[in-house]
Order: sequence, then structure tokens, then C-alpha cells
Amino acid sequence: MHPFLQPLSRTFVPTGDLQQDVTAFLSANGCPNTARHSIAVGEQARKLALQFGFDPDQAAAAGYLHDISAVFPNAERIEAAEALQIDLLDEELIFPMIIHQKLSKPMARDLFNIHDAKVLQAVECHTTLRAHSSKLDRILFVADKIAWDQEGTPPYIDDLMSGLEQSLEHAALAYLKFLWDRKEQLKVLHPWAEAGYKELASCCASQ
Ligand SMILES: [Fe+2]
Ligand SMILES: [Fe+2]
Repeated sequence: MHPFLQPLSRTFVPTGDLQQDVTAFLSANGCPNTARHSIAVGEQARKLALQFGFDPDQAAAAGYLHDISAVFPNAERIEAAEALQIDLLDEELIFPMIIHQKLSKPMARDLFNIHDAKVLQAVECHTTLRAHSSKLDRILFVADKIAWDQEGTPPYIDDLMSGLEQSLEHAALAYLKFLWDRKEQLKVLHPWAEAGYKELASCCASQ
């Protein structure tokens, strides 16, 4: 385990039931709302996996784990990433909220003993997606946007759900297009989101 994460490992007792362990970890570290959101995303990812032909347990695991780095507030994320030797982009230094997707990866590995590369990779890009995304990357990305972590109805949900009637890629594209159309108003547009948008826009246009 990375020494930086050792104090966090003492905040919960793992039982081997990931859903229970993530809930215990997030609750013990002051993030009960994120715990509820994470379980909802896990269940949504499981549904999408069944619908689109992927292992539902792998999808649920990615969902449960994706936001475990919520235990680090935005103001501590740059420092945490540096301690964990995570490379940061300029956009992430400007808007540290986005760093949480990268932070969750080593935390899933070291604190929850997850070594499934597909799960870790999906967790790492769940906020922005990226180019050459895997099916699990897209399942988790879409699940997180359906079971979003804010009040009310997501403003992009109708477009995303009608995209889902065509394919997972159309659903992911609907959310990325929502960001792209508002890029002037956003603090930053993450380069992974831009690359994912351009790739899916050209793939979906040819279908
Ligand atoms: Fe997130
Ligand atoms: Fe999330």
C-alpha cells in the first residue's frame, strides 16, 4: 500500500463485500451522500452491463468505487495527486475537481485490493471519458451521468436516454456534446473529454 493512503486504510474494516465496504469507507470519512450516489451508480452500471453485454459484477464494482476519492476535498486534490505520483494536466491544476477520477484509481487498488485493469481504467476516466474508451469505460461514464450526484433532473437526460436507445456510444456522445456545446462557459474542457467527443461524434455519424 502507498504510505500516503495508510491512514485511510485504518478508517474501515474490509469485509470483502465491496458495496458494504465502500459505504463504510465513505461514511466513516464524512461522505455519506457520495456513498449513496456510488451504490446507485454501481446498480445503474450493472443494468447497463446486462443490457449491452458486459460482466455485471465488474460494472457494479467500477460504479461502487468510482468516487471513493471524494474523501479528499478539492483543495487537497493536487497535493494528494502529487503524493501518489499522478501526472496532472494544466486543466486539472485549474479545476482540481476533475482530479478525483485519477485519485480513485490507486485508492481502489490499495485500499480495496482491486487489480482488475478494466475496472481501474474505467474509474480513472469516469468523469471525462477519453479516446479509445473500453466498453466498461462507457458503461461507467453513462451510469454516472444517469445516477448523477446533484439535486433534480440532469439537464442532458432526455438526449442521453434517447441516445441509449441507439447505443451506449450514442448515450456517451449525448453527454459529451452537452459539454462541448457549453465549452465557452465551462471553467475548462478536459482534453480527454474533447478527444472522446471528437472520436464518438465521428463514429456515431457514420452509423
Ligand atoms: Fe466522479
Ligand atoms: Fe459519480
